[in-house]
Amino acid sequence: KRLLLLNGPNLNRLGQREPKTYGHHTLQDVESLVTEAASAYHYKLECFQSNHEGELIDRLHEAEGTVAGVIFNPAAYTHTSIALRDAIASISVPVVEIHISNVHAREEFRHHSMLAPVCMGQIVGFGIEGYRIAALGLINKLENEGR
Ligand code: DQA
Repeated sequence: KRLLLLNGPNLNRLGQREPKTYGHHTLQDVESLVTEAASAYHYKLECFQSNHEGELIDRLHEAEGTVAGVIFNPAAYTHTSIALRDAIASISVPVVEIHISNVHAREEFRHHSMLAPVCMGQIVGFGIEGYRIAALGLINKLENEGR
């Protein structure tokens, strides 16, 4: 059984990037944390980060038939990308949206998610711990639905 952890633009700079908002942990820390959480439930984790919308779309398409679920921080594309929304809608694999910061307590343009309506659920505002919460919520749903 496999899961995919997908991270969008600028998340390769976690740890250095706006630490007051996103903390001091790196993307590697995030990937290790989710790998560990998933392995406790016997799921293998694939990790992918890209700053390019098209590469994220390709990775979502590849998720179909190869992984049981996706944990996705679409970063700024959350607020803009109809193409990513359509990509999620085009696959039957469930996707959980996660944001490190509380986007609702920030600028108005971060309040709306183009992707939330086609995702299984959304976790916001719990720092990188949100990735673990997203993974556990996703696994719980998968197991309950017998997928
Ligand atoms: C983010 C929130 C987005 O608004 C922002 O563009 C990001 C990171 C978060 O994890 O809090 O790059 O997705």
